[in-house]
Amino acid sequence: MSNVTSAKPVVLIAEELSPATVDALGPDFEIRHCDGANRDELLSAIADVDAILIRSATKVDAEAIAAANKLKVVARAGVGLDNVDVPAATKAGVMVVNAPTSNIVTAAELACGLLISTARHIPAANAALKNGEWKRSKYTGVELAEKTLGVVGLGRIGVLVAQRMSAFGMKVVAYDPYIQAARAAQMGVKLLSLDELLEVADFITVHLPKTPETVGLIGDEALHKVKPTVRIVNAARGGIVDEEALAAALKEGRVAGAGLDVFVKEPCTDSPLFAFDNVVATPHLGASTDEAQEKAGISVARSVRLALAGELVPDA
Ligand code: NAD
Ligand code: MLT
Repeated sequence: MSNVTSAKPVVLIAEELSPATVDALGPDFEIRHCDGANRDELLSAIADVDAILIRSATKVDAEAIAAANKLKVVARAGVGLDNVDVPAATKAGVMVVNAPTSNIVTAAELACGLLISTARHIPAANAALKNGEWKRSKYTGVELAEKTLGVVGLGRIGVLVAQRMSAFGMKVVAYDPYIQAARAAQMGVKLLSLDELLEVADFITVHLPKTPETVGLIGDEALHKVKPTVRIVNAARGGIVDEEALAAALKEGRVAGAGLDVFVKEPCTDSPLFAFDNVVATPHLGASTDEAQEKAGISVARSVRLALAGELVPDA
């Protein structure tokens, strides 16, 4: 990090972003880098910057905002804003922008991949085969066609997953109290209560924001209501599916499999869930494609340019 005083506004890039981000910012800014996941580094680096660009590993909380003496914009190159204290930023006069549509196709595609992987044991069979084991009956799976997919959170990503999995012949139901039944019906999706969804779903995929209401929504109580053959995917946020409750349900045979891209504590390299052969886990890869990263980077770079020029930042 450079401490040289600059006439140009300073943009701090606190996580690895697509090179397109810096290109889209252009020559009018001094660009600095830091490791936003390293708390001390972040608190020191944020002190004298005008904008900070982050993904999900950097916590821009009240403490970080208080440490920032001239911050004007927090730009989240992605969807979730759960790692930003938006009320604290607003109180401090700091604008928060994100790129809400940049990675939705990419995230939906990963969720579909996890659904298929849990149905057909692709990762476990791959690992076994490369370990010299040709085990066909052990990895017998289940078909997706004619099965019921329960989408919890029928927002941008939930809709894309519903559309894609419908193409596999799945019947799609959803729980989302903020969506009109008529709108869901237009997409061929039947809205249910959460309890009804838990009872009928053969597969459940979670696409909720992380809020006090959604943390633990798929917890012990919910996991006692599901079919024992259910496969559950969480590519939204860690903790919406309670990790301890899920491990207990897998151990007791109350859930047949899970696909997890997100964890309560990240990075997560050691979890009781990793001991289960029927758990497919990825390291928060939902947004990690070249295309999504490029779109997110360009989108937030444009927002930062507009915000620092004092112009209106349109909804992305
Ligand atoms: P969205 O805001 O478009 O959709 C969320 C939906 O959840 C909305 O329809 C809303 O009505 C519904 N909802 C909100 N609170 C609810 C509640 N208490 N009960 C039931 N439904 C509720 O969001 P999105 O773009 O679809 O993103 C969904 C999630 O995916 C977010 O948590 C986001 O951070 C996450 N995400 C993860 C990755 C990844 O890398 N794994 C990538 C992109 C997004
Ligand atoms: C998001 O909310 O956009 C995702 O968590 C992806 C990310 O930014 O890493």
